Amino acid sequence: MMKIIRTIATVLLLGSFSLKAQVKTPVYLDDTKSIHERVDDALSRMTVEEKVRMIHAQSKFSSAGVPRLGIPELWTSDGPHGVRPELLWDEWSQAGWSNDSCFAFPALTCLSASWNKDMALLYGKSIGEEARYRNKNVLLGPGVNIYRTPLNGRNFEYMGEDPYLSSKMVVPYIRGVQSNGVATCVKHYALNNQEVDRDKVNVNVDDRALYEIYLPAFKAAVQEGGTLAIMGSYNLYKNEHCCTNQYLLNDILRKEWGFEGVVISDWGGAHNTREAIVKGLDLEFGTWTEGMTWGKTNSYDQYYLAKPYLDMIKSGEIGTTELDAKVRRILRLSFLTSMNKNKPYGSMASDEHIQAGRKIAEDGIVLLQNTNNVLPVDLGKAKRIAVIGENAVKMMTVGGGSSSLKAKYEVSPLDGLKKRAGAQTEIVYARGYVGDIGGSADGVSTGQDLKDTRSAEELIAEACTLAKNADYVIFFGGLNKSEHQDSEGSDRLGLGLPYNQDKLISELAKVNKNLVVVNISGNAVAMPWVNEVPAIVQGWYLGSEAGNALAAVLVGDVNPSGKLPFTFPVKLDDNGGIALGEYPGSNGQVTYKEGIFVGYRWAEKQKIKPLFSFGHGLSYTTFSYGEVSADKKEMTEADKITFSVSIKNTGTREGSEVVQLYVSDLKSTLPRPVKELKGFEKISLKAGEEKTVSITLDKAALSYFDPDKHAWVAEPGDFEALVGSSSSDIRGKAGFTLK
Ligand code: GLC
Repeated sequence: MMKIIRTIATVLLLGSFSLKAQVKTPVYLDDTKSIHERVDDALSRMTVEEKVRMIHAQSKFSSAGVPRLGIPELWTSDGPHGVRPELLWDEWSQAGWSNDSCFAFPALTCLSASWNKDMALLYGKSIGEEARYRNKNVLLGPGVNIYRTPLNGRNFEYMGEDPYLSSKMVVPYIRGVQSNGVATCVKHYALNNQEVDRDKVNVNVDDRALYEIYLPAFKAAVQEGGTLAIMGSYNLYKNEHCCTNQYLLNDILRKEWGFEGVVISDWGGAHNTREAIVKGLDLEFGTWTEGMTWGKTNSYDQYYLAKPYLDMIKSGEIGTTELDAKVRRILRLSFLTSMNKNKPYGSMASDEHIQAGRKIAEDGIVLLQNTNNVLPVDLGKAKRIAVIGENAVKMMTVGGGSSSLKAKYEVSPLDGLKKRAGAQTEIVYARGYVGDIGGSADGVSTGQDLKDTRSAEELIAEACTLAKNADYVIFFGGLNKSEHQDSEGSDRLGLGLPYNQDKLISELAKVNKNLVVVNISGNAVAMPWVNEVPAIVQGWYLGSEAGNALAAVLVGDVNPSGKLPFTFPVKLDDNGGIALGEYPGSNGQVTYKEGIFVGYRWAEKQKIKPLFSFGHGLSYTTFSYGEVSADKKEMTEADKITFSVSIKNTGTREGSEVVQLYVSDLKSTLPRPVKELKGFEKISLKAGEEKTVSITLDKAALSYFDPDKHAWVAEPGDFEALVGSSSSDIRGKAGFTLK
């Protein structure tokens, strides 16, 4: 009997092989063929109904594949700092899974503040592994909108005020994510620089500012990062919604930059079928929602690129040329992600991700001020440390809009300090102020009960009593991703700290000279107490490892090396857009009258001294700069020019320095900023060690965008390369001439 069974099994097995040999693998499934051939073949097999189904959402975060052909659906997920927990098919609320808690990485302002391209690659690779493990095909991030004013609610999600820094930091992030077979969807393209009226404001901006300030990071994402997708923004430009915009999508993104990827709408960013067909949109999501809370139930067939489009085709009103072009781009993305058989398997909340998150956080924390070297805290001497402030305990991974997460864990600053100090130092805590006691977002709860009915006076009195009898006082305050405090959907209402924090800080400064203020925020804040407080640290939203990273820097295990990715103005009017009365605009219009003079470009043009400058950040050691030398005094457009400078660690401990190179065009036909960042290098030096840093520029670094020629122009004449430790701490320069 067994013999018979074995024979039958053998026959069946051989049969299946020979059957397979006869049935030829279709081209679109044959990964020995080029993506182009495979796309053509898949397209040729699809019906018009299947094509239309593929170009719009089928659920909150997925779009249809072609079940008949075995082409899988596409799954997208927020966000830039971690993979969002699962939602119900057609709801903003939680699906209630128990296996979708992620590792929460630091906000992108922190990554940008590291000025460390290696960290950007590590970040992208790590978050890409989390997205891959969760079977997401498109990660809805990173965001690279320029920091135009310190009031934009979503600045914490972006990479600061400078187009060069954002461009250099976004590229490795994209490559890291996409190495997992997961697409990035760089957002929000373009000019989404405020949350006020975000879905109806028309941005008026001159071409120089558009090309020199607001587009470079997106251009780098496309041409250097190779992002497979880009997200249109809610706002309008030239009176067209950016998700369906002839200029941004067809003329610039596709024709000028050669983008072959997929344009995905922001959730609710499409408003008209014909516009969506002909003005560059490929994949429509979130229509009839405002991207966060409300929406029309199961309206997917009513999407602009759904039945209304199919009806237009069936009636002969329009052909299928645009449809095929859209489907072709989506199929290409599918072949590189969902249908990519060689992609890795990813991982989630792994030790590697924990280490990566902590390293990025430690690398991005910025030491703003350290009078009398109060920092680092000497745990050997400190018998008692008073920790004050709601942000010492408040969870920050929940909230802020679509980047909100369900983190596996989050170490608070207080817990991080307690863990690091151990039994040798007593850590005592007082609330100090009451800010936002809400504890949930999208149905994810922090589990914290921050209710406190005491008066501000009582809270300050308690805090000062503790502070009086401590060796060190560490205040954790700032913003907290609640409404108007760094959040999607609402901008900040002013530059000052909320919740009476300024008064509290001043009172603490009176009772203890060893006061450290740690500002947790994604935006600049006013610091009227800056001369009363010896030590100030910019702490960012640091994710799951927040408390450990902050403790490591505060006690000196880690030497801080972050540099500000945006200017801290003394007051709101020191900001260009605001000073010119063009924020947030009116009657649906906002005009970027400050043009290219954004951030330090404005401050230096107006000779305004910031509170803390772009590129500023101190260290627990010191660095000296040698002479800046250039390998040539004259260059032609075809040349490159290399600047070198030796950097020495003149302090007593290892540290990293970000050497920044700015270019100044001494005489130009069109107005140009005093100087512009065109190179940087982060180097680590042991105490006493010296290294030479070289930065090479080509003509692109000398060019400005000429709106009349609609081209970049490097104008012959004299230039200067200025090298320094921040935009306002130039240590040397070298002149040269472009012939
Ligand atoms: C939101 C945001 C966008 C996010 C999308 C999906 O409204 O603007 O950044 O990726 O909708 O949540």
